[in-house]
Amino acid sequence: MPSNPKLQAYINGKIQPYEDVVLHISDLSIQRGYGVFDFFKVQDGQPVFMKDYLERFNESARLMELQVPLTEKELADTIYQLITINNLPISGIKMILTGGYSGNGYDPAEPNLLIQQLPLLLPAPDIVAQGLKVITHDHVREMPRVKTINYAMGIRLIKQIQKAGASDVLYQKNGVVSEFPRCNFFIVTQDDTIVTPSEDVLLGVTRKNALALAGKNYKTEERTITIAEIATAKEAFLTSTTKRILPIVQVDNVIIGNGKPGAVTMGLLQDLIDLEKKL
Ligand SMILES: Cc1ncc(COP(=O)(O)O)c(C=O)c1O
Repeated sequence: MPSNPKLQAYINGKIQPYEDVVLHISDLSIQRGYGVFDFFKVQDGQPVFMKDYLERFNESARLMELQVPLTEKELADTIYQLITINNLPISGIKMILTGGYSGNGYDPAEPNLLIQQLPLLLPAPDIVAQGLKVITHDHVREMPRVKTINYAMGIRLIKQIQKAGASDVLYQKNGVVSEFPRCNFFIVTQDDTIVTPSEDVLLGVTRKNALALAGKNYKTEERTITIAEIATAKEAFLTSTTKRILPIVQVDNVIIGNGKPGAVTMGLLQDLIDLEKKL
């Protein structure tokens, strides 16, 4: 168990030392992998785009037939309390809602709500400058609009990704790509249209921000992207809360554009960093 004697976390109405926040073995998250979560950044004591994440957390819970025990305002107040107590410069807040302590290990019970705040590392500049190589894998998430706690496929593929000398895996089904285990996917076409898959994806908050920023200078489209189309793209990139916008320079054996991070991607990354600073 990661140890951090100074940190506090929340469980079912109580803020207590992080080490003491534990679940009983009967919880449905342990028994059946049943639960949802959400995750956002805190920079200089300020939650970044928190409202979007709280809304998505509520929507995930609704689609998963789980009841969030706090109102959005109560959740936000609890999160601000944790931020003040923990006083971390750059961190991630994770809210987790589980199926609860099940009598028979299957039927849902009263959900358990946990909130943790841990220090966060943002991508190093050399990773951004180099760009990523990614591989593809035949898979689509079971409930793409729900941020479930189930990352079994992504975690199972970690060794395969490492063996290929890649950084991540892009899910595809019948030649149509969707998303990464923890990120959304974009391409920039030869005519500078910025495109991201519309179906079978989590509606990423960074995806939404990237589309809005891109829309100021470029045409944007949410539609199907095929593996074949990726080979014709000028640039490609991924988006996520922790990774922001990261250029992709290779997908399987296909080199994207000139094999270097592109100007459109790098411009959007700077726009996103500026937007985060304005909050
Ligand atoms: C499956 C999946 N897709 C996309 C994302 C990116 O979403 P966001 O930009 O809100 O972090 C995540 C985030 O963890 C994810 O789990």
